[in-house]
Amino acid sequence: MHHPYQIRSLEQYHTDYKRSIEDSEGFWSNIAEQFVWKKKWDKVLQWNFNEPRVRWFEGAQLNITENCIDRHLADKGDQPAIIWEPNDPSDRTRVVTYNILHKRVCQFAQVLINNGVKKGDRVCIYMGMVPELAYAVLGCARIGAIHSVIFGGFSAQSIADRLADAKAEFIITCDGAYRGAKDIPLKSVIDDALVGNTTVKRVIVYTRTRTPVSMIKGRDVWWEEEMEHAALQLEQAGSVHVPAVAMEAEDPLFILYTSGSTGKPKGVVHSSAGYMLWTNYTFINVFQYQPGQVHFCTADIGWITGHSYILYGPLSAGATSVMFEGIPTWPDAGRFWDIVDKYKVNILYTAPTAIRSLMGFGMQPLEGKELSSLQVLGTVGEPINEEAWHWYDEHIGKKRCPIVDTWWQTETGGVLISNLAGITPAKAAWATLPLPGVQPMLVDENGKQVTERDEQGLIKGNLCIKTPWPSILRTTYGDHERCRQNYFATYENLYFTGDGALQDEQGNFRITGRVDDVLNVSGHRIGTAEVENAINAHAGVVESAVVGYPHDIKGQGIYAYVIVSHFHQDAEQTRKDILQTVTRVIGPIAKPDKIQFVSGLPKTRSGKIMRRILRKIAEGETSNLGDTTTLLDPGVVEEILKGV
Ligand code: PRX
Repeated sequence: MHHPYQIRSLEQYHTDYKRSIEDSEGFWSNIAEQFVWKKKWDKVLQWNFNEPRVRWFEGAQLNITENCIDRHLADKGDQPAIIWEPNDPSDRTRVVTYNILHKRVCQFAQVLINNGVKKGDRVCIYMGMVPELAYAVLGCARIGAIHSVIFGGFSAQSIADRLADAKAEFIITCDGAYRGAKDIPLKSVIDDALVGNTTVKRVIVYTRTRTPVSMIKGRDVWWEEEMEHAALQLEQAGSVHVPAVAMEAEDPLFILYTSGSTGKPKGVVHSSAGYMLWTNYTFINVFQYQPGQVHFCTADIGWITGHSYILYGPLSAGATSVMFEGIPTWPDAGRFWDIVDKYKVNILYTAPTAIRSLMGFGMQPLEGKELSSLQVLGTVGEPINEEAWHWYDEHIGKKRCPIVDTWWQTETGGVLISNLAGITPAKAAWATLPLPGVQPMLVDENGKQVTERDEQGLIKGNLCIKTPWPSILRTTYGDHERCRQNYFATYENLYFTGDGALQDEQGNFRITGRVDDVLNVSGHRIGTAEVENAINAHAGVVESAVVGYPHDIKGQGIYAYVIVSHFHQDAEQTRKDILQTVTRVIGPIAKPDKIQFVSGLPKTRSGKIMRRILRKIAEGETSNLGDTTTLLDPGVVEEILKGV
């Protein structure tokens, strides 16, 4: 049995694609008919990219949690919705059926109501990967509160900035989180983030690690006590059901902060209806999901991949989604494979950086692992190199599982370019073809479509999308002009992705990486300006310049050229102090892999840093640095080269 809108052949892909472009409104309204609406739409799509203004299913009302939970209760109530694998493999697994998910999400929605959370309020969620994180996210969606999940690796300062930007009044957190051998004191980070904060009214704390926490009277409450109270209340009312609030199709569902080329992360805003439709459609089609399959996406819910392919996509399709609290290398590098065997995982979706890191442990961690349940493999987050692709294919998929290389972004909500598992052809290290409704275009610097091919028959350009798909970002929170500037102003009438790409004669796309000042470190986006700001915050630093360089496991590493006024104690100590400063300002994920102390940076006469040269040096280039004649002081380059 397939879903009514599942593409089942290459031929159907082509007809569906064609129809999605020629009769886009007819195509998407047919699919939308398959969802639960409180009120149907008046108009399928209205848009212009100049403002930008994109409205899908205007006039409709719905609640995404009814589509992710309630509609499955009649026939899948006892089927697992979420299977939770704890950090420590000897701890108890938790199986959350759709019935239990319904009960807990409603109960937590009641907790939110009891604590004064209303539709449209922003709720910041800073938790480890526990089922309660899913209840928190879906509980917000049920009452129409806008969730803003922050990854557990961000610092207090980063949280404070995001709280202020979103004007959030509520926080949901844990005492601590387990990640491998580490125990991260989340609540204490929140306490630091809240020093001087006057807008946050309530912090709800779930107990996971029993790390001692400080609970502030009138502000902080325990999850467990609140849940118990809500349960009694619901029991007295005679039903576990809390009604799902009617959301307008275009009401914001969530904010997720992501890095750009400027210093400050942007709050990407996704809508309710379009996001629901797209995560569902892409989950079913890209992975070729079949009812009853077990899907394991290894991402953290703190990133878009977790939002779309641990929660909303799989749950809206009534799938079973595995949620893993820990890390791939603890207690050993066989952990993913143990999980696959333990839960008979059918679809495994992970990042190239994880594959490369596990490859590095050799074959021993694979000994005794069956992996026979696997049917589809996927990758996301960065370009996958051919070596990693083939290792994944041979040793994990045993050459019998299609691999989908899914290209997308926080801003796109779900996958835009990918092969469809077993249906459209795969090509190692290529994302291949666009999903129906997606019209990619490669342009030159001036926004002119590139059509010329090189000797290998490839077109090369900056990747843009011509028309809106249902889950395109709607705005950047609190600053619509910034959204326009960032994505819609570079080229007229196009959404600019920030990525460079190649296209072959069959129409396949290969995404080659960012063309702006954004790094992709282990599949995580970090702006060079953001890292520079963090380094410059250190007292002894005069100036810095950050670039990326190829890194065997992380994809890109962070290389920082730093001018200091003096070393405090010695260079080594100063280096450590700078790393500590970056950890404080952004979080450990932004720590430079290399710091080179320099006395000057290569600048043009107008004072602009020539990053091109710094990038080349970071890549290990010693000659061929390109034209250095426009430099104010070419001697700087010699000096930097000597210090490498
Ligand atoms: O450069 C592209 C890269 O990751 C960027 C988006 O990062 P983020 O918003 O954090 O979302 C990551 C998860 C969707 C893109 O601009 N990227 C993502 N997937 C691929 C990729 N690069 C190449 N191939 C991919 N499959």
